[in-house]
Amino acid sequence: MKKVIGIFGSPRAHGNSDILLNHAIQGAASSGADTEKIIIRDLHIAPCNSCSGCFEKGNCVINDDMEKIYSQLVAADGIIVASPIYFMGLSAQLKTLIDRCQAFWARKYILHSPIRESGRIARGFLIATAARNGGEDLFTGAVKTIRSFFHVLDTRYTGELLCSGLEEKGAVNKRRELLQQAFDRGKRLLDV
Ligand SMILES: Cc1cc2nc3c(=O)[nH]c(=O)nc-3n(C[C@H](O)[C@H](O)[C@H](O)COP(=O)(O)O)c2cc1C
Repeated sequence: MKKVIGIFGSPRAHGNSDILLNHAIQGAASSGADTEKIIIRDLHIAPCNSCSGCFEKGNCVINDDMEKIYSQLVAADGIIVASPIYFMGLSAQLKTLIDRCQAFWARKYILHSPIRESGRIARGFLIATAARNGGEDLFTGAVKTIRSFFHVLDTRYTGELLCSGLEEKGAVNKRRELLQQAFDRGKRLLDV
């Protein structure tokens, strides 16, 4: 069975990115995938300390909840990332997880090891929510970081659902078209 993981980056439970991610995960489940949601705010993940310890064997020297996430990222066929926009970028919780993937960078570019057995490529997309009503570059930073994260993870960036004009918790419930788009994207994620 194909595996899809949803990485939830907001500290706000039941907020906009949470609701959209849940719809995307339901969509993926409706296509027959085995789904799992990773709630970063419930985990203990220290920031990368740039010690270069991972350059030796491709494993991070810090022992915390990232250990399980490394295996989940490798096992995944699909990765859905959801984050609010904070100061024009991703949430700190999500960025901390991403920075710890420097261990994958080391595996790939220093040790020349594949990320997944037989070079399997996963697929993924980004869901981002922001209060501002559009505007140039609102999502640019987030998209660039997720593209780079997926690149290092041998994961094809299949697109994004960028939702502006969402400030209060749960505001997205009034935007039925966005909920439907999240579901549909999740459902189609692993389509050939
Ligand atoms: C620390 C912080 C920084 C924020 N920075 C921005 C920003 O730069 N641009 C913006 O449009 N909204 C910003 N917002 C608003 C959130 O992106 C918005 O409310 C979003 O819908 C929250 O998603 P959530 O409900 O999933 O947490 C910020 C909110 C917080 C708490």
